[in-house]
Amino acid sequence: MGTLDNKIALITGAGDGMGRAHAVLMARRGADIAIADINEEMARETAEMVRATGRRAHYAVVDMADTEAVIEMAREAGRMLGRIDILVNNAGFGQRALIEEIREEDFDRMMAVHVRGSFFCTQAVVPAMKEARYGKIINISSIWGMAGAPVASHYCGAKAALLGFTKAWAKELAPWNIHVNAVAPGGVRSGGPTKLDNSDVLKAKEEKVPLKRYCEPVEISYAVAYLASPEADFVTGQVISPNGGETIVGY
Ligand SMILES: NC(=O)c1ccc[n+]([C@@H]2O[C@H](COP(=O)([O-])OP(=O)(O)OC[C@H]3O[C@@H](n4cnc5c(N)ncnc54)[C@H](O)[C@@H]3O)[C@@H](O)[C@H]2O)c1
Repeated sequence: MGTLDNKIALITGAGDGMGRAHAVLMARRGADIAIADINEEMARETAEMVRATGRRAHYAVVDMADTEAVIEMAREAGRMLGRIDILVNNAGFGQRALIEEIREEDFDRMMAVHVRGSFFCTQAVVPAMKEARYGKIINISSIWGMAGAPVASHYCGAKAALLGFTKAWAKELAPWNIHVNAVAPGGVRSGGPTKLDNSDVLKAKEEKVPLKRYCEPVEISYAVAYLASPEADFVTGQVISPNGGETIVGY
């Protein structure tokens, strides 16, 4: 018996990093998985990893900045697997840049992938969730969306927008038994820290974390899988931030 037995989850950006870890952990806990990613090869690999657990997998190639394609991808995922019970808005990327260095196209891409992509993917799955009177939506934010950072204000703003969505959607969708929460990871050994920072920079950053390390992607998946499960049926509108104590924010 898994905590996600026979649930169906759509995870964006599940081709690599944390999204892949969420897909595999949630499959091990009993869920079928729809994978959406801009990278076809990585999406296919994640689908194979899900199938290796004995669960069904469907994958689609999509750029989250392409609203029409996002809506079609979400509908197709529902058709292929039967329905969507759980949506994880995870796809994203980091960029280190000062205010003066951020070009209009950088700003627009950041907002389009993280903010618009998550919004319209959610819009596409909500009608069927309302009809089913069941749904779990998990938005992947960041400690940088809660506390800021000096090198990526467009990223921080996009991740803060996801916290705003989380709180508004939690209130709007509660009457339909749809729970909406956010996970705001601290440093993870995936994505930006591994792609944008060299190993010395990464080591120095890890030293500053009270627990003295960044985490493995699956350590974030545990929080996502919990929020997706019936164990979190009384939890909505919340932000869980596994971050090794790097960011501790008050109420
Ligand atoms: N790594 C960290 O320390 C960290 C910390 C906090 C939050 N986050 C957030 O967690 C999420 C996952 O990050 P990660 O570290 O696993 O990154 P990653 O780069 O390892 O994986 C991101 C995945 O998203 C996909 N993707 C990127 N742009 C896309 C697009 N336009 N359309 C569709 N798919 C796209 C990539 O192909 C990749 O498979 C992101 O939203 C990121 O901002 C990461």
